[in-house]
Amino acid sequence: MAYIEVQQATRQFKNGEQVTVANRDISFEVDQGAVVVILGPSGAGKSTLLNILGGMDSPTSGRVLVDGVDIAQFNSRQLTTYRRQAVGFVFQFYNLVPNLTARENVELASQITKDARDVDETLALVGLTHRSDNFPAQLSGGEQQRVAIARAVAKNPKLLLCDEPTGALDYQTGKQVLQVIQD
Ligand SMILES: Nc1ncnc2c1ncn2[C@@H]1O[C@H](COP(=O)(O)OP(=O)(O)OP(=O)(O)O)[C@@H](O)[C@H]1O
Ligand SMILES: [Mg+2]
Repeated sequence: MAYIEVQQATRQFKNGEQVTVANRDISFEVDQGAVVVILGPSGAGKSTLLNILGGMDSPTSGRVLVDGVDIAQFNSRQLTTYRRQAVGFVFQFYNLVPNLTARENVELASQITKDARDVDETLALVGLTHRSDNFPAQLSGGEQQRVAIARAVAKNPKLLLCDEPTGALDYQTGKQVLQVIQD
């Protein structure tokens, strides 16, 4: 059985009279251990799909099976547990907590999961041991994104989701960040 099975998932947004269909009747499968890249023009519905897979949103209709369980049926409490246990998320604009150091940002994530990785080992993994005690504002964009990756990876998540993780970085730094994600 595939780790992820999305079956005829649709997500539409209603704003008064206006209806936007962000995801229309999507079906696909992803095997355990696979690395998948989603490509499409702006507005194609990529973030909507990632938010649904990450338990931050639910489809209007259809099934989203993760490890055999339909997360489309989850209530907000179940979604919170799912996000906490199963998902690491990396955002385009890092979303670090500004008044916590790099290490503290990673600790925050490791403290809410059962099988968390060692915080300092995870920071070493992304090459930031020497920056552990710095605040986000004292770090470059690439360094902040590597902290965000460490934060996502520290949870040892079954699913690592990255929404344009290099979108705010220059080409060379973006390449390094993609390499860190792949590693
Ligand atoms: N909360 C929302 N309320 C209303 N419309 C929304 C909402 N979220 C997304 N949409 C709409 O759904 C469509 C898909 O948006 P989405 O953000 O998923 O696209 P995207 O592929 O991630 O685009 P980009 O490459 O620009 O990030 C867009 O038309 C967008 O305006
Ligand atoms: Mg997007």
